[in-house]
Amino acid sequence: MSGPNSSYDPVEVTPLHPDEVAAMRDAALETIFRAATLDQLKEARLATTGDRAPLSLANREIGALPPQARKAAGQRIGQARAAVNAALAARRTELEAEHEARMLVEESVDVTLPYDRDPRGARHPLTTLQERIGDVFIAMGWEIAEGPEAEAEWLNFDALNLGPDHPARSMQDTIFLEPEDAGVVLRTHTSPVQARSLLSRQLPVYVVCPGRTYRTDELDATHTPVFHQVEGLAVDKGLSMAHLKGTLDTFAAAMFGDGITTRFRPSYFPFTEPSAEVDLICFVCRGLPPEVESCRTCRGEGWLEWGGCGVVNPRVLIACGVDPEEYSGFAFGMGIERTLMVRNGVADMRDMVEGDVRFTLAFGMEL
Ligand code: DAH
Repeated sequence: MSGPNSSYDPVEVTPLHPDEVAAMRDAALETIFRAATLDQLKEARLATTGDRAPLSLANREIGALPPQARKAAGQRIGQARAAVNAALAARRTELEAEHEARMLVEESVDVTLPYDRDPRGARHPLTTLQERIGDVFIAMGWEIAEGPEAEAEWLNFDALNLGPDHPARSMQDTIFLEPEDAGVVLRTHTSPVQARSLLSRQLPVYVVCPGRTYRTDELDATHTPVFHQVEGLAVDKGLSMAHLKGTLDTFAAAMFGDGITTRFRPSYFPFTEPSAEVDLICFVCRGLPPEVESCRTCRGEGWLEWGGCGVVNPRVLIACGVDPEEYSGFAFGMGIERTLMVRNGVADMRDMVEGDVRFTLAFGMEL
């Protein structure tokens, strides 16, 4: 049986020899020092401390040494690895500081550059016109009412005396929302706000509702699938067509100038009876000869079409729980785009939709 091999000196075994360990350490420190960027330092970390790094491989060999050699070898390798880790941390701090200093120089803000090269935009004339209309009625003691654009089919049609088989119902080019049987449409007019107001407010009711409406029209010079209307509704004791006429004349004068009045032409709307189309005296020629003959605004008519109106149909009042024996009312609806076209001589509706800021500027809007 052989005894321990005392002449074998494991301390001398490479690569755990002190010189060898020192060389590995120095090579690692050199690699770290040479890293010029944080990315390169990442690579250096892998090369000097990763699984395949010389010091890591040497560390794994400690276990293979005879027990009496392990402590010194472990200490040497441990010290070398600690030096490498300290160097990595120090270099990282250095490189981060350099990076930050460079960012401060390279990314500095030149406060002398112009800051307003992109115009901020301005409010759209359709918006300001709707507000102006609201103001006209608020000055008369009316209130602004609102309703959703995705509206119950019942409120958009049925409550307004447009039953499922009513021919006018299919004439409205309605956009239905999915699922089809949910009974929800994009409102085709602002008239459902009439029903909403009567159902939710105390009588008497005096409301206007400017808002967005939708129909399946193609966009062209006189149509747009998304447009705006203003609805008016007054329900009180003893209201008549005369109050309607007076209200619309006041509205017309506020929109188009003093002396601009309206005329009614008999018409039909299911929610009003009697119903009328509203025309304005042409505010350019005032319908007076000889100017009227050559007037380009009204094309020689002397009148401009503006909207629809009438006395609220008792069936609408009943559908909304209002007693038609006690209350009566009037209603009207105007297109806002139409009002803007007439009022400001806009020939093509597409100009209102395209969002070109030059259109807005022409209305005196400041950017
Ligand atoms: N809702 C109608 C439309 O979109 C306009 C209208 C006509 C509204 C007469 C009314 C009214 O309130 O009385 O064509």
